[in-house]
Amino acid sequence: MDVIIRPDAAAAAELTARLIADALRARPDLVLGLATGRTMAPVYDRLAAWHRSEGLDFSRCRTFNLDEYIGLPAGHPQSFRHTMETQLFRRVNLRPEHAHLPDGSAEDLRGAARDYEAEVARAGGIDLQLLGIGSTGHIGFNEPLSALRSRTREKALAPATRRQNAAAFGGDPDQVPSRAITMGVGTILEARRIVLLATGEAKAEILARAVEGPITAMISATALQLHPACTVIADEAAAARLTGQEHYRWQFEHEPEWAPYREESR
Ligand code: F6R
Repeated sequence: MDVIIRPDAAAAAELTARLIADALRARPDLVLGLATGRTMAPVYDRLAAWHRSEGLDFSRCRTFNLDEYIGLPAGHPQSFRHTMETQLFRRVNLRPEHAHLPDGSAEDLRGAARDYEAEVARAGGIDLQLLGIGSTGHIGFNEPLSALRSRTREKALAPATRRQNAAAFGGDPDQVPSRAITMGVGTILEARRIVLLATGEAKAEILARAVEGPITAMISATALQLHPACTVIADEAAAARLTGQEHYRWQFEHEPEWAPYREESR
């Protein structure tokens, strides 16, 4: 795992977007795993801006989102499908049939979960998976005690997650759907490369436990320590509780892999 600390949330989102854009340029038929949430909005803004200004090309890219709420009618403004349409899909030249999310309105949710796994496999697996981290330490909606080998399935949201996401539902946690369909931890770990973005002081404590704490199903993000190609990008506020900051900063300054990203990100 690499940890990269950027001065503020804008710089952290910019670097995340650059890693995605560079992967897409290197491989135009990239299979890209996406996340929703407040952390991701500035990443999608950057990608949309580069599509406009530099012609960043999504025409061959296929995307798979991590999760979707269960029980929201199609087109509901807080559905992750709708959020992705407005934040990214309609702003770039991604083909609608290439944009996949789990089907949270399916009658047969088990079948929908199975189909989603099969669709990812048919696409050849995920090349680059973008992740946020929730206050419970979830990735996707893999709440505490999600099996570290879990696959796409239905999952109950933790009360803390419903509070975290309440702002989008008029501030009322009870309005946040109580269940979601989410890729499993095992599904996520199969991505060839993972980039997790965390910003803001509210994420500091859980990020430190995820990156530096023992691996535990209580915090699904700790499973990322097992992944051979995982990069965590944090702003100063989210990185504040990491004990290894000096080492992470040294690595970013010295590892040849990061050279192209050092100068411009100063
Ligand atoms: C969203 C998702 C979640 C979020 C996490 C952080 O698709 O899978 O794991 O990434 O809850 O959300 P924000 O960015 O709103 O703090």
